Amino acid sequence: MKKTKILFVCLGNICRSPMAEGVFRDLVSREGLENEIEIDSAGTGSWHIGKTPDPRGMRASAARGIDISGQRARQVKNGDFSYYDLILVMDHDNLQTLISLSAPEYHHKIHLFLDFAPASYETEVPDPYFGGTDGFEHVLNLIEAASRGLLLHIQAG
Ligand code: 4NP
Repeated sequence: MKKTKILFVCLGNICRSPMAEGVFRDLVSREGLENEIEIDSAGTGSWHIGKTPDPRGMRASAARGIDISGQRARQVKNGDFSYYDLILVMDHDNLQTLISLSAPEYHHKIHLFLDFAPASYETEVPDPYFGGTDGFEHVLNLIEAASRGLLLHIQAG
């Protein structure tokens, strides 16, 4: 299997995309595919560069056995568009931002993450930043469903 490079993107890179990175990395390692699939996350915004994930996201992830505390936020950079094979965004705002930042030759790499969770009625992973802890549980449920679909998609080549 050719190595596949995946980048998860949200606005701040402290809530949704770090949880997506953590959940998908856990799934990939449980399948023994860590040498085949490279994973990172980034934000479209710059406010939180260098910060750890949101404590609510770290706690909700830890409760599902996933440690995301080692992650540090970074901003999407120009080289990401050529380097990664798939760039998976959490919402339509992220999608518009990345389409406007990237050359047309890279647009085919950019998708809504929930496109890989076909059973989901939702198309966006909602921003949990200004809500309560329920929001983080909901985000993790959506991310788990899309992660399974994404892995099947990669394995199907
Ligand atoms: P994220 O959540 O995009 O899932 O990391 C947010 C984190 C911070 C802010 C917005 C969304 N903020 O406005 O600071």
